Amino acid sequence: MTSSDCLLIEDRAAVRVLTMNRPDKRNALNNALTQALLDALHAADRDPAIKAIVLAGAGQAFCAGADIKEFGGFVNNGSNASAAQAALERAHLTTNLHRVFSQIGKPVIGAAQSYAMGGGAGLALACDMLVAGESLKLGYPELKHGIVAAIVMANLVRQVGRKTAFELVSMGESVDAPRALALGIVNRVAPDAALVETAVGIAERLASFDAPAMAATKRLFHRVADLPLQPALDASLDTNMMMRSFRQDRANDR
Ligand code: COA
Repeated sequence: MTSSDCLLIEDRAAVRVLTMNRPDKRNALNNALTQALLDALHAADRDPAIKAIVLAGAGQAFCAGADIKEFGGFVNNGSNASAAQAALERAHLTTNLHRVFSQIGKPVIGAAQSYAMGGGAGLALACDMLVAGESLKLGYPELKHGIVAAIVMANLVRQVGRKTAFELVSMGESVDAPRALALGIVNRVAPDAALVETAVGIAERLASFDAPAMAATKRLFHRVADLPLQPALDASLDTNMMMRSFRQDRANDR
């Protein structure tokens, strides 16, 4: 697997580590990085040698969110038809990136140090598990720019209580690692120096399990999280029956 300039890709046995690599721009999400991430997550999902993914950010920060300079061009020139088209394409690209985390079968472990802002906070929350560096500052400053924390809101409101979610998107203040842990949006806090290794350690444990069972677990998790109880139990029943059949298939193969 090769790396592009803006996204480093490294395989550690069955764990693929994706590292956003625009450290001088605090890994702000321009189109190139957003597309590279989307492509890399799909590629990791398709690769039978890979069983878990780690998402990290190079340098001082995890991710400072949408690239304001690139994004600003789209907004300011909104009356221009080609700029409006570019803004639309960018919105779809960003939405597709946020969708893919829950669509792929392999678990994604985030490793977030220092700033995870706006779209960067969204990426952190889109991960299946999240390790925070002790320096984490996660927040949604979009209103300070006169825009809306839009695509990132869907995950946020599902992961913290409504009052907290509204506070985060309306006040523009960030939460530190202990508060993020208390809110349940972070699984572990690690020293920054041990952040990626901690995330890789979790990913290695998940990678040690049966890949189809892990994929079915993740798929069911994301389905039941958003369903009312009865259809959620129906979905659980379906997965239970499917699991029995694939265990039986394996027994027959032996
Ligand atoms: N888009 C584009 N460039 C960004 C960026 C963003 N979201 N965030 C940071 N950068 C760039 C800065 O313009 C600067 O580039 P330059 O050296 O060419 O001038 C570089 O990254 C370093 O930024 P700086 O502010 O000096 O770093 P810092 O460590 O002191 O502060 C942040 C980091 C993240 C707190 C600060 O950069 C910031 O507030 N960024 C905006 C975050 C944001 O509002 N995100 C939501 C966007 S909708």
